Amino acid sequence: VHAGPLRHFLQFRDFSHDEILYVLERARLIKDKFKRYQPHHTLHDRTLAMVFEKASTRTRVSFEAGMYQLGGSVIHLTTTDSQLGRSEPIEDTARVVSRMVDIVMIRTFEQTRLERFASHSRVPVINGLTNEFHPCQILADIFTFIEHRGDIKGKTVAWIGDANNMAYTWLQAAEILGFTLHVSAPNGYHLESDRTGNPDSSILREFDDPLEACKGAHLVTTDVWTSMGYEAENEERRKAFADWCVDQEMMDVAAADAIFMHCLPAHRGEEVTGEVIDGPQSVVWDEAENRLHVQKALMEFLILGRLEA
Ligand code: CP
Ligand code: NVA
Repeated sequence: VHAGPLRHFLQFRDFSHDEILYVLERARLIKDKFKRYQPHHTLHDRTLAMVFEKASTRTRVSFEAGMYQLGGSVIHLTTTDSQLGRSEPIEDTARVVSRMVDIVMIRTFEQTRLERFASHSRVPVINGLTNEFHPCQILADIFTFIEHRGDIKGKTVAWIGDANNMAYTWLQAAEILGFTLHVSAPNGYHLESDRTGNPDSSILREFDDPLEACKGAHLVTTDVWTSMGYEAENEERRKAFADWCVDQEMMDVAAADAIFMHCLPAHRGEEVTGEVIDGPQSVVWDEAENRLHVQKALMEFLILGRLEA
């Protein structure tokens, strides 16, 4: 049952600057306690329902472990083992599930499908990845950046490769948190201006040459060439993206203390070389772990609102 004003996290900009900072700060405290084996049972007796219409390793494990660590419990649903796979409307699923649990996380295809769920839900809904956005990942990425390098405001993030759900979420984060996003994607795979609007060049700069995009960047990041749901395009994408592999040459033109991130799963030799992802500038394992801590803070915030330390 949800008592306070109903909030969702369907895209990064659903939260204000202050709310993002609050969640990140709270994640810091939750992570510190986790590392000291101190219990933190703020969601005792609460239940999370997770709905997966696409595959997952990190999102499932981090939400599931996270909710148990907060003292709650978890129900895992997929398209194939629920009535969603037998065409029960998403609205009906939302009405029913949200009468029985305290919070819902969904990974699905179109953002509109997630929005349809949320608008019929009595409890907070979290985007666990859609074709359009992946806000939980960017929350973890920003947390990881701050952990390694301090404030991200005024810094430069280079996005190399597909202008996908991750790239659009980075752009929302750049707008809210005040950093510059460099994007380099091959022809045919650029950001679409009807989705980006017309951001100032202090927020977004696009480059044909991925090496140019990496120059001076404090963070270089990339993702798979073919996201889930686009598998039919795999072959043509492998050809189009061949020059968009993050390699040591790109890391070498970035800032001297630049770090590398990848939301994972990764394909060494495609979007990134083994040398980079397994090298000293890579923080991908911290990045993956931080999904756990930020999402615990996120669920706590959506269910309980702001708490005193
Ligand atoms: N990064 C991420 O969301 O990973 P999964 O697809 O394994 O959940
Ligand atoms: N862009 C990728 C991210 C996977 C976590 C996808 O949507 O498949």
